[in-house]
Amino acid sequence: MADVMQVNPFDYVVFGGTGDLALRKLMPALYYRERDHQLTDDSRIIGVSRTDQNTDAFRAQITKALGQFIPAEDIDQAILARFLGRITYVPLDATKPAGNWPLLVEALKDGGDKARVFYLATSPVLFGAICRNIKEADLICPKTRVVLEKPIGKDQASANAVNNEVGAIFKEEQIFRIDHYLGKESVQNLMVLRFGNALFEPLWSANYIDHVQITVAEKVGVEGRADYYDKAGALRDMVQNHFLQLLCLVAMEPPSSLTEDMIRNEKIKVLRALRPITAQEVKAKTVRGQYRQGAIEGKSVPGYGEELGASSNTETFVAIKAEVDNWRWGGVPFYLRTGKRMPTRYSEIVIQFKATPHNVFGRGAGELTANRLVIRLQPDEGVNLSIMTKVPGPGGLRLRSVPLNLSYAETFKDRYPDAYERLLMDTVRGNPSLFMRRDEVDAAWAWIDTIQKGWKDTDQPAEPYPAGSWGPLSAALLLARDDRRWNDADY
Ligand code: BG6
Repeated sequence: MADVMQVNPFDYVVFGGTGDLALRKLMPALYYRERDHQLTDDSRIIGVSRTDQNTDAFRAQITKALGQFIPAEDIDQAILARFLGRITYVPLDATKPAGNWPLLVEALKDGGDKARVFYLATSPVLFGAICRNIKEADLICPKTRVVLEKPIGKDQASANAVNNEVGAIFKEEQIFRIDHYLGKESVQNLMVLRFGNALFEPLWSANYIDHVQITVAEKVGVEGRADYYDKAGALRDMVQNHFLQLLCLVAMEPPSSLTEDMIRNEKIKVLRALRPITAQEVKAKTVRGQYRQGAIEGKSVPGYGEELGASSNTETFVAIKAEVDNWRWGGVPFYLRTGKRMPTRYSEIVIQFKATPHNVFGRGAGELTANRLVIRLQPDEGVNLSIMTKVPGPGGLRLRSVPLNLSYAETFKDRYPDAYERLLMDTVRGNPSLFMRRDEVDAAWAWIDTIQKGWKDTDQPAEPYPAGSWGPLSAALLLARDDRRWNDADY
C-alpha cells in the first residue's frame, strides 16, 4: 500500500448528513480514510439534518449505508467500530437561526486549533442561510472551511447570488466548491500525462491535433433525482462543471507548479477563451436528446417521461461542438457528449492527432491512420495510443494501426480511491487547488447561459433516442458534417 500521511486533526460537520450524497459518498470516503489510518484519534465527524433521531440511530444508518456502498471485504469490524466512535449526530434545521444550534456548539466544544470543515451537502438555495446561522452561532474559527456541493446556482445570476451570500460570511480562501471529477485519480493523471512526459506537450496544439472528444456515458437514468434533474438537464448537471473542468485540464497551459492558485489561474484563461455559441449557431453546434423506452444489455428500461411521471422537454443527452479561441487551439474543435441510458458506462478523452503530411508507403500498403490517444477515465482506467505498424511477414509492406495499451489496474494493483476521499482530505488540509474558484464558476455559467438562451430562443427540442443507444442521430451528424466520427465505433 502507498505511504499515507495522517492529516491534521479535524472536526467535520456534514449538513444534509442523512442525505443521499452523505450516505453514498461522504461517509464511505471517510471510512476508507479511517481504514488507511489517515485520521487522527481526536478527529470528529458530526452529521446534521432535520431528521429527529439520536447518534445511535445515525450510526446505524451509516453502518447500513457502508454495507450497501462498500464491498463487504473492505469492511473490517474493528475499523468500523473506531470510525463510528468518532461520529455524532445533531438534529437541527440549519436554515433557521433558532433551534438546536447549542447542541452543535456543544458537539464542537474543545475543538482547539483543529481544522473545522462545514460540508454543505444540501440544496444550494440553503447555502446562504446555513452560512449565516453558522456565523450567528459563533462557530467560525481560524481554520474553518466551508464546502459547497454542486450545482451552484442554475445560471450565472443565481450562482452569483449564492456566491455573494456565502462570500458575505466566508473569505474566498475558506470556500471549497467541489467538483468531484477533479478528485478522480484518472483525471489527475491527465496532468501527469501532459506535464510529466516530454513526449506529448510539444504536439499538444492545433499544429498536430485535429480535434478532441470528451465523452461521459452513463447507463443509469435519473435514479431517484428526477425532481432536481428535470430542472437541471444534462447541460447544467454535467457540462457546466465536470466537462468544462476536463476541457480546461486538456487545454490549459502548463502551470509553473501545482500549488495554490497556479492550476486555477490557467483554467480560468481557457474558460474565458471559450467561443460563445450564439442562438444562430446553436442548432448546428449542439444536440439535445431525451431517452425513450429501450433496452440496455437485454433489459427493458422505461423512458424518461415514464420515470418522471410527466412529459418534459429536459435533455438527458447533450452533444456540443466547443471551440477555444486562443493561439494554441485555434481551429481545433472539442466535441463534448454526455447522456443517461447509454449502452455502457464509460468516460474518456480522445486526442485525435492529424494525419502525416505524406504517405511514403504508397496506396498498396493500406491506409495510414492518424494517431489517436485515448485517455480512459472510467472504468478500466488507462491510456491507449494507436500507432501504425508493419504487419509481419512477406507480401510487401502492409500497415496496420495497433494500440499501445496501458491499463492502470494491471500496472498498479492498489485499490483506486474514490474522488471524494482525496477531496475531503484536501478540505481538511486547506488545499484549494482541486476546487473551483468563484471566477471559474462564473465564467463557466456565462458560456452555458448563452447555449441555454439559444435553446430557449429557438425552441430547440430534445430529440428522442431509445435507451441503450448512443443518443440521437444528430449527435453522429454533428461530427459527420465535419467529416469525423465518435470514437465509440471502436468499442
Ligand atoms: C454528478 C451528476 O455530478 O455526476 C450525476 O449530478 C452523474 O447526474 C454523476 O450521474 C456522474 O459521476 P461519476 O463519478 O459516476 O461519473
